[in-house]
Amino acid sequence: MIPMTLAEVAAAVDGTLHGVPDENLLITGPVEYDSRAVRPGGLFVAFAGAKVDGHEFAPAALASGAVAVLGTRPVDAPTIVVADPLVALGRLARAVVDRLPELTIVGITGSSGKTTTKDQIGQVLARHGATVAPAGSFNNELGLPHTVLKADAGTRYLVLEMGARGIGHVAYLCGIAPPRVGVVINVGDAHIGEFGSVEAIARAKGELVEALPAAGVAVLNVDDHRVRAMAARTGARVTFVGQDERADVRAVDVRLDARGRASYTLVTAGGSAPVALPVPGAHQVGNSLAAAAVGLAAGMTLAAVAEALTDLRSVSSRRMDVFDRADGVTVIDDSYNANPSSMAAALRALTTVGDGRRRIAVLGYMAELGDHERAGHEGVGRLAAQLGVDLLVAVGTAGAIHDGALTVAQWGGKSVHVTDQVQAVALLRDELKPGDVVLVKGSRYRTWDIADSLREAGA
Ligand SMILES: Nc1ncnc2c1ncn2[C@@H]1O[C@H](COP(=O)(O)OP(=O)(O)OP(=O)(O)O)[C@@H](O)[C@H]1O
Ligand SMILES: [Mg+2]
Repeated sequence: MIPMTLAEVAAAVDGTLHGVPDENLLITGPVEYDSRAVRPGGLFVAFAGAKVDGHEFAPAALASGAVAVLGTRPVDAPTIVVADPLVALGRLARAVVDRLPELTIVGITGSSGKTTTKDQIGQVLARHGATVAPAGSFNNELGLPHTVLKADAGTRYLVLEMGARGIGHVAYLCGIAPPRVGVVINVGDAHIGEFGSVEAIARAKGELVEALPAAGVAVLNVDDHRVRAMAARTGARVTFVGQDERADVRAVDVRLDARGRASYTLVTAGGSAPVALPVPGAHQVGNSLAAAAVGLAAGMTLAAVAEALTDLRSVSSRRMDVFDRADGVTVIDDSYNANPSSMAAALRALTTVGDGRRRIAVLGYMAELGDHERAGHEGVGRLAAQLGVDLLVAVGTAGAIHDGALTVAQWGGKSVHVTDQVQAVALLRDELKPGDVVLVKGSRYRTWDIADSLREAGA
């Protein structure tokens, strides 16, 4: 964190100081809520959780060099006492932003692809100025301020993922870190269980562009009509990105290679440039266009942006990670998370990468779909069959995927419903042959073991 005295921190978070020998003591290190991550000069934030009470880890944090603790009660250390450490973390992050006038904040929201796009924007902007865009998915009221606090006087760009489980969540995050550039990737059905409808999701995601200043830029996916409509909700300049001809930053002549990697011509009012993405998936076209638009808004040249896109790396794990095993099996590990739209994107990638080969989809449960759960799973199964997947393996509570696939008449493939990850691994051990392409996807840990075992087996 930028150096701040305990008095300044207390004022920023509306806290009171206890056991502080000198209120001018400086915090110079990182702000951490995991005592194991504490570094000398840092601030330890103690959350009183249901299972563990962070305050008990204050001695460990001090031993690692923490200057003080932020918590709900005084501990045997300099303590800043607040009513709610989560709110305090957000306020502290805002105070830091207010002390960094040179900082440009880029906010990203959408139903699928926030982390991927954040990683891409981070890589593009890093060529133009010091950028904070840590790997991973820090998109809520805890992870976002924690990321903000990594910015310092040298940082020019702070790239933030903004998630929402309800109305007002994105607006709250924008209050912590007011964005100058806002990117909306898509409106899909992630978290539809909590929201109730796709319209409500669109309302929530659009809070990002409502928060932009007049001098800001809204980067909107013109190919998604709900995102396109958000142009009416912002006072900022709008840059449409997409394949539609209304796009200001547009991909034309999109082609996919045998690895599912897209190349296209990046077309803007200022000219055009060829782009060849090294990361697989047709959905990366839209993500990379958003990254291009942000780079251009930051003043980068078209050539520099195109070069950055061609050099993109996959930064956060378990997202479209395609690897070849020594035995000739290709694995697409997209197991980080899943919802119906991202399942569709991944199944399409399987279709391309698996062209002319046996295609296997191992699909797990999609969490947080609420009333849409059954229909969402069935739809994914139907799509897998319609796309001609040869072997579909539905894992555990994802049985409705299996049911959906079976409703597709004339499908030449086979569907199996296994009870759990262990059974799925055993089945794959027997089934897999050289040349097969396997997609593994589901909501988080429910499919991770399958992907890991496929990796180990091929090592
Ligand atoms: N533009 C996109 N459209 C649809 N699906 C996408 C898109 N980009 C990525 N995906 C799919 O979504 C999956 C998750 O991507 P990512 O982790 O970037 O999303 P996220 O929005 O950050 O998710 P979370 O809400 O879990 O943070 C990817 O592995 C891929 O299958
Ligand atoms: Mg994410």
